[in-house]
Amino acid sequence: MRLETPRLQLRELNEGDLPALRAILQDEQTMTAYEGAFDEPMVRGWLQRMRERYREDGFGLWAVELSDTGEMIGQCGLTRQRILGADVIEVGYLFNRAHWHRGYAVEAATACREYAFDQLAAERVWAQVRDTNLASMNVAIRLGMTVRGRFVKHYRGVEMPHLAFAVDRPRSGC
Ligand SMILES: CC(C)(COP(=O)(O)OP(=O)(O)OC[C@H]1O[C@@H](n2cnc3c(N)ncnc32)[C@H](O)[C@@H]1OP(=O)(O)O)[C@@H](O)C(=O)NCCC(=O)NCCS
Repeated sequence: MRLETPRLQLRELNEGDLPALRAILQDEQTMTAYEGAFDEPMVRGWLQRMRERYREDGFGLWAVELSDTGEMIGQCGLTRQRILGADVIEVGYLFNRAHWHRGYAVEAATACREYAFDQLAAERVWAQVRDTNLASMNVAIRLGMTVRGRFVKHYRGVEMPHLAFAVDRPRSGC
């Protein structure tokens, strides 16, 4: 799997990404919506889960690299989720804080949205966003998503209200 955008390359995560993954998942501010930084076993568990998703589904959250330098600056991709009682495909995005506010998340997530429509024949792509995560909501809105519902997620012992965003596959023809 390799996706290319004007500035970015997306590919599967591997063991060599652990330092870059730690820089994202162990940063307290980046992980606010996940109720704080991950410890080392959680980082390794996250990578293992992504590798399982690649094997089982053929997709998952992918590594995002800058085309110019090859630096791994974030994760973006597609995962199977259960949202509002339905099995759906979600686009997810987490970036290294040093690379926020440059449009990379929207650029990567747009390519993932198109991959879901074109390669996975998805009729709709979702994003579940904690109700406090304004940056993530703005990415969802820039992807053309609207709010379809709300629900409460139980994660790390905390009740987290979420909004369910989605965008529908464009109708073909005029
Ligand atoms: C969610 C997250 C990925 C959004 O990152 P981001 O940097 O705000 O998003 P983008 O990279 O798309 O940047 C958009 C911003 O870049 C600006 N920008 C600069 N250059 C740009 C360009 N060439 N193209 C588009 N936007 C550009 C936009 O105006 C926008 O600015 P704003 O944030 O002030 O409104 C980031 O906050 C993050 O990693 N959060 C932690 C993990 C997380 O919570 N993930 C979501 C879980 S649901």
